[in-house]
Amino acid sequence: MNPTDPASLYPQHLATLCARADEALARCGRDHLLIPSGRRHYQVFDDRDYTFAVNPHFKHWLPLTTVTDSWLVHTPGQRPRVVYVQPHDYWHVVPESPNGWWVEHVDVHVVRTPEQALPLLPAVAARCAILGEAGSALGDYVPDNPAPALDYLHYQRAFKTPYELALMRTAQRRAARAHQAAEAAFRAGASEFEIHMAYCTAARQDATEVPYPNIIALNEHGAVLHYTELDRAPPPESRSFLIDAGASHCGYAADITRTHASDPGSEFQALVDAVDAAQQAMCTTVRAGADYRQLHVDAHLALMAILRDFGVLRVSAEAALATGVSAAFFPHGLGHLIGLQVHDVAGFAASDRGGTIAPPQGHPYLRMTRVLEPGMVVTIEPGVYFIDMLLDEVRKNGHADSVDWDKVAALRPYGGIRIEDDVLCTTGEPENLTRPAFDD
Ligand code: GLY
Ligand code: MN
Ligand code: MN
Repeated sequence: MNPTDPASLYPQHLATLCARADEALARCGRDHLLIPSGRRHYQVFDDRDYTFAVNPHFKHWLPLTTVTDSWLVHTPGQRPRVVYVQPHDYWHVVPESPNGWWVEHVDVHVVRTPEQALPLLPAVAARCAILGEAGSALGDYVPDNPAPALDYLHYQRAFKTPYELALMRTAQRRAARAHQAAEAAFRAGASEFEIHMAYCTAARQDATEVPYPNIIALNEHGAVLHYTELDRAPPPESRSFLIDAGASHCGYAADITRTHASDPGSEFQALVDAVDAAQQAMCTTVRAGADYRQLHVDAHLALMAILRDFGVLRVSAEAALATGVSAAFFPHGLGHLIGLQVHDVAGFAASDRGGTIAPPQGHPYLRMTRVLEPGMVVTIEPGVYFIDMLLDEVRKNGHADSVDWDKVAALRPYGGIRIEDDVLCTTGEPENLTRPAFDD
């Protein structure tokens, strides 16, 4: 088995998914698992469709992200069946005939219309667990998403197979190459829009293909956590650049953030370097048995210690955490599970039989509360920002003395800093999937 070749890793991946599907069926008392790929969605009162987003369960089984109206059928003890809709259509490019590493491992049936799938589905719809959106219904085959099956499959999805990791590494390399092109465009004085275009060109993916809208923020815009405006003209002076942008490969996401300063001798660059060093230290804590909630709280303390060192905070890191001042500077979670979705499912799952683990009090935006286990991939994305709205609340809440406002005024024109890598938890040392991609 070649650990970088998806074709040689796919049979083991498929065997894992079949075993998980068997267990999911046992838990919901059904005989067949059905996964529709999904239908196109149309804008209201219009014939224009939205970008198609395939059912994540479907792309878990098959590296297909653009095939609509198709079905994956799993029956324990049998080869998976794929009903593949390839319409006769001269208006659009139709999906190419089934090809690739997956074809020889499944029974493929090519049909021309969605309805032709019906006789190829198991005879008794009531014996099927059907995972998908309501709009994927075909005749009696109506997605019902049995909770015991979904709870199990979503929980298990956190554990990546070697095949999935190979695809995720390719997504990382694609995104890293594009990040480097974007940094070069920033240093050449490009506008946000131009940087975005440079990014997409280098990634060879357009805005509908990247796994989430690019965040390309110059100067103060870095303080808007999900800034997606893309100014067409460059600012008079580009002081700083926060870029949170990913790439997709076979439906798997990379999610990477970098922050750059135009002046390598600036205090802002020194702050970026300090956050970067702290982020790398946090990545080394992605270890089996570690409670991600604790990593999040530890990240607050590490970041507040940096702000104290730089004179932004006048109180200890512990005091800033206790009073909530730290949340004004670091107002989002440390990270999340990633894979088939950039914010992957089941970050709060208490077990594969349901239940949720709440985020810690005062940290409502943390998206991952599970204990880390080998095979999980999480992002580690600490940040510090100068956000007027949140700093006003610090003043209103009686904590103005905790902050050196002159320091804040000096750093506010730079917006903020976030550094984000995607990290694999193993049985030993964590593997940072992102950093080596920049070296390639
Ligand atoms: N790009 C969104 C996030 O980092 O979670
Ligand atoms: Mn992220
Ligand atoms: Mn991100």
